[in-house]
Amino acid sequence: MTNKLKYFIGNWKMFGDFGSFKIINKINKFSQKSQQKFNIKTVLCVPTTLLHFFNKKIKSKYISLGAQNCHHHNEYGPFTGSVSASMIKKSGAKFIILGHSENRSGGETNQLIKKKIKSALSEKLRVIFCIGETLKEKKAGQTFSILKKQIRGSLDKKFNLESVILAYEPVWSIGTNKIPKINQLQEKIKFIKSEFKKYFNTKKVPLVLYGGSVNNKNITLFSSIPEIDGFLIGGASQSSKKFIDIIKNYYK
Ligand code: PGA
Repeated sequence: MTNKLKYFIGNWKMFGDFGSFKIINKINKFSQKSQQKFNIKTVLCVPTTLLHFFNKKIKSKYISLGAQNCHHHNEYGPFTGSVSASMIKKSGAKFIILGHSENRSGGETNQLIKKKIKSALSEKLRVIFCIGETLKEKKAGQTFSILKKQIRGSLDKKFNLESVILAYEPVWSIGTNKIPKINQLQEKIKFIKSEFKKYFNTKKVPLVLYGGSVNNKNITLFSSIPEIDGFLIGGASQSSKKFIDIIKNYYK
């Protein structure tokens, strides 16, 4: 098993209240305890309403907090119901998920996501940039061209790309209990890394996570792909036990 740093990032989606702090607390204790054993970085991306409260309570260097989206405009403005990257940063987040398919399906385009990434990077937030094909696109054999379009359409050579972590999340695998075939997944992860290097003319290999129905059973399959730098975990991150078991089983 590799000793390379691996990211385990939870995406709580629309879940949680102040009482859910106990979940974060257990994950924090586990992360602290396992520092010597595993080389991991744990991040929990929670609803914006919980960031400040959790941040005040957790005070830990073993776990970081993240947000799940922001408005593209970074100054105060007439955007009812929205929060900016700067407001999120001030609430204690170090990371932010952008381009999630659940927001793309609500109308977010590659261009809008690009503005959001720019805004988040200007606040020195680390961006977890989600890309992935729908089932229809997969069936039409468009996966590689979609991934290419998403990368080129939302990232810019001028961005501080070292603060961007890509997350490959096939839309058809999110919340469905379906995961890609391991050899096909490895091919996609390698493609994303090489496409990124080619397009941005860099030797630096970007971090690429996998997300979509990751659980404490199938995680053992993913550990055979060394190119995966970590996981974006949705449903299973809403339980401390499931989230911790994922990490434990990854290193089994
Ligand atoms: P899931 O979600 O693990 O529940 O499939 C992943 C995600 O949406 O990031």
